[in-house]
Amino acid sequence: MVYSEIVLFIKTNSMIKKPLILGIESSCDETAASLVTENEHGIPTVLSSIVSSQVDIHKEFGGVVPELAARSHIEKIDIITKKAIDESGVALKNIDAVAATAGPGLIVCLSIGLSFGKAIASSLEKPFIAVNHLEGHALSPKLNSKLNYPYLLLLISGGHTQFLNVQGLGKYKRLGTTIDDALGEAFDKTAKMIGIEFPGGPQIEIYAKKGDPNKYELPKPILYRGGCNLSFAGLKTAVLRIAKQIKTDQEKYDLAASFQKTVEQILYKKSKVAIKEFKNINENNNNTLVVAGGVAANKKIRESLKKLCIEENFIAIFPPMNLCGDNAAMIGMVGLEKYKINQFSKLDHPAKPRWPLDEEAKFLKGAGVKL
Ligand code: KG4
Ligand code: ZN
Repeated sequence: MVYSEIVLFIKTNSMIKKPLILGIESSCDETAASLVTENEHGIPTVLSSIVSSQVDIHKEFGGVVPELAARSHIEKIDIITKKAIDESGVALKNIDAVAATAGPGLIVCLSIGLSFGKAIASSLEKPFIAVNHLEGHALSPKLNSKLNYPYLLLLISGGHTQFLNVQGLGKYKRLGTTIDDALGEAFDKTAKMIGIEFPGGPQIEIYAKKGDPNKYELPKPILYRGGCNLSFAGLKTAVLRIAKQIKTDQEKYDLAASFQKTVEQILYKKSKVAIKEFKNINENNNNTLVVAGGVAANKKIRESLKKLCIEENFIAIFPPMNLCGDNAAMIGMVGLEKYKINQFSKLDHPAKPRWPLDEEAKFLKGAGVKL
């Protein structure tokens, strides 16, 4: 054997003892595939993670167009998966299971990755595992940190904003939720009002660096009531009112900075309330706050929640920067956890556009919500 064959032989054989999972993600506008396994200490290890974003396709429409997103998933999913397998250095036949996102998300998009994952699992005669996208975000810090249950989770993504008591794999108790917009949505809409191209959320952070965070006084809805439930609709309306009047770039920077600072203050206060509730429920000393989802990439938000955790004697844990947004490594990792307890899915598992982590939590959205 030549040297490269020996390396591959050792790599492949040392992996046989450990589960090797192919993860697939297509719930919105990212097509992603990843190979995940675990090391000798049982820590999840990402062998490859390929994410193909559709930003250029949706830019001219100012938001995600479901049909175009689905078409792009169809065009790319096999190429992306092949790339993930090639980069991982393992052979497809050595995969132990295929995990694919089954919800929540856009049904036309979910269906692509889900069918593709089922087809690979079926052709390899390996188990198929349907994964909740939100559970992927919820457990994503396991990809770089040791995490013990239970922990308090602040999930801040484009479609969801929630505080959850994470008791174990598949065991979630919602403590609070947004009663209107998700935080990522508020970032994206603010960006649009300021005139930043889609997807504007991450750009707000860049604009904010050049602005005065104290220039505009913005509302913090339900800050002192509703427990750790949150609301961003009133903040968005206030941003719109100001955005209509501003003209200069500096004013735009100031508005972005003021918006971001207001969000920091809301999250700081509401996380404090959630920590108190979490402490009341859990009497052990598992004092961990996990912040996950696309908005967890925001550095100012990270800093302010780290500060809160120091004050509250909590440990703040965030996913690696590149795994805050949508990716398939987090899906493969949930697949790995489920594989270890033989939690497999049937091949007729449906795509679920709505799939809350806490299925028993009350629906709290819309006008007239009682808190
Ligand atoms: O988790 P994610 O990739 O997709 C969903 O599951 O929704 O989150 C995407 C959201 C978008 O709304 C995006 O604007 C926001 O995360 N986002 C950010 C930042 N990076 C991404 N928001 C604020 N600051 C950032 N740096
Ligand atoms: Zn997501």
